[in-house]
Amino acid sequence: MQVVITTNESTAGEFAADIIERRAHAGALRVIGVATGSSPLPVYDALARRDLAGVRAARAFALDEYVGLPAAHPESYRSVVSREVTARLGLDPERVHVPDGSVDRLSTAGERYENLIALAGGIDVQILGIGTTGHIGFNEPTSSLASRTRVKTLTEQTRRDNARFFPSLDEVPRHCVTQGLGTILDAREVVLIAVGSRKAAAVAAAVEGPLTSMCPASVLQLHPHATVIVDEAAAAELRLRSYYTEVFAHRPAWQV
Ligand code: F6R
Repeated sequence: MQVVITTNESTAGEFAADIIERRAHAGALRVIGVATGSSPLPVYDALARRDLAGVRAARAFALDEYVGLPAAHPESYRSVVSREVTARLGLDPERVHVPDGSVDRLSTAGERYENLIALAGGIDVQILGIGTTGHIGFNEPTSSLASRTRVKTLTEQTRRDNARFFPSLDEVPRHCVTQGLGTILDAREVVLIAVGSRKAAAVAAAVEGPLTSMCPASVLQLHPHATVIVDEAAAAELRLRSYYTEVFAHRPAWQV
């Protein structure tokens, strides 16, 4: 796992965008996995500014969707992805996929989504945020480390964290359809971005804690090509902070 400590959120976004741009130039960006929420916004800002043909041509898969929100609801992840990703990066809306959170089709939503990802040839690079509970996607603590796309129940803490996007806590859905941890591990490369002190404990548990379903993001320790990009505040509880800085400063030119 590569840990990159940046001075601020916008540098973090530029660094993640560099990874994606390198892939696009190498012709290795057919499918991009996209996260919603605040963390990846600087990545989308940077990619939008760069206006890359290789990104515009990519297919995209969202990590998750709330259950029961109408697709047109401004906070459904279908709407958020359409606003923040599809429109800004110039993707073809027909090639952007979000799990189906409709209540009447839930029993098959996971399998249908997994099939779509497989048909697309798998995800080349998955962008991730991390929740204060240590979730990636909406895989809350005790999620199976081998899980596939399925329905999950959000923790109270995640609902409170996400209440900022809704008029009240009561309106934050309780359920979601999320890529599983096993699904995320199948991506060829993963890039997690975390900024701010509220993420510091979760980042430290994910990067340096034991591999445990109590911190679902710790599953990334099993991924052969994972980069964690954090600002100083989110890096605050990392014990090996100075080591990561040294590794980064002296990384060989051929190593990307
Ligand atoms: C979003 C997602 C979540 C968020 C996480 C952090 O699609 O899957 O894992 O990345 O909840 O959210 P923010 O970035 O808003 O703090």
